[in-house]
Amino acid sequence: MKRFRRLRSSGALRDLVRETRLTAGELIYPIFVEEGIGIKTPVDSMPGIFRWSIDRLDEELDRIAEAGIAGVMIFGIPKVKDELATSAYDDDGIAQQAVRRIKKRFPELLAVADVCLCEYTSHGHCGVVCGCEILNDETLPLLGKMAVSLAKAGADIIAPSDMMDGRVAAIRQALDEAGFLNTPIMAYSAKFASGYYSPFRDAADSAPGFGDRRSYQMDCANVREALLEIEEDIAEGADIVMVKPALAYLDVVRAARDRFDTPLAAYNVSGEYSMVKAAAERGWIDEKRIVLENLTSIKRAGAGIIITYHALDAAKWLEEK
Ligand code: PBG
Ligand code: ZN
Repeated sequence: MKRFRRLRSSGALRDLVRETRLTAGELIYPIFVEEGIGIKTPVDSMPGIFRWSIDRLDEELDRIAEAGIAGVMIFGIPKVKDELATSAYDDDGIAQQAVRRIKKRFPELLAVADVCLCEYTSHGHCGVVCGCEILNDETLPLLGKMAVSLAKAGADIIAPSDMMDGRVAAIRQALDEAGFLNTPIMAYSAKFASGYYSPFRDAADSAPGFGDRRSYQMDCANVREALLEIEEDIAEGADIVMVKPALAYLDVVRAARDRFDTPLAAYNVSGEYSMVKAAAERGWIDEKRIVLENLTSIKRAGAGIIITYHALDAAKWLEEK
């Protein structure tokens, strides 16, 4: 009989043979910034998460930097929304201001800029709309402009989340032409149309005004298609690829890890976060234990970078251990 339990008999032995280790340095924390002054508004559906105005952002940044988290993913909520998402590529837009603030206070903290139009369009879709259709090729130049504007503000990584075809190539070309040859692209390559995004849409005020995102985000049933999306993004110049959501798609994370050598990120999305918080608030689960188990599982599946709303808590807990 093989005695597997020998190596489980003490914490020191379990530590010694642990295959997957989590560190704060591979976590990215999403932050929501909005225009205005003195704002720290709780997001109802995401306990512990707030919308910040730029003047108060330092409070949060200090905690993030202190925790040793790799970086922040910035989501801007503009005052003005229109058909063409003009505030998305305004050099003085809300996300651009946040990037400048972050880089000024913590030059070492990575400023990852989400690039998508949905927070900035009046209709809430991720692309240019004509009638009921979300236009692909007409959206690409706007994404390019947004990426360049955020790179100019000092963004360390450009992260397109729109799922238009050809956006990585278009953004790469726009960045290169503007002289940002060294700004990497982290593409949301396998982004599924998911019910797990609803709390985010509350937080970012970005729910589509009509229809849904199924004509551009992926069908949750498809893993081979996810690999094709990832392959194409790598071919177009993505430096890092992403699977999103994470927990319900760990098979996709694993398949991507096995197939490609490009650095791989997974996005532990808002709904995944809110479910844990809701159950923990009721005392039904042990939050710390569940969060560390979830994040370890995402890493075990093959993601080297994890974007998560739990990052601040997780970093603290990892320190304690
Ligand atoms: C914008 C965007 C979304 C998320 C990240 N970027 C929402 C969406 O596609 O509707 C979701 C993040 C989350 O749920 O935590 N395109
Ligand atoms: Zn979008």
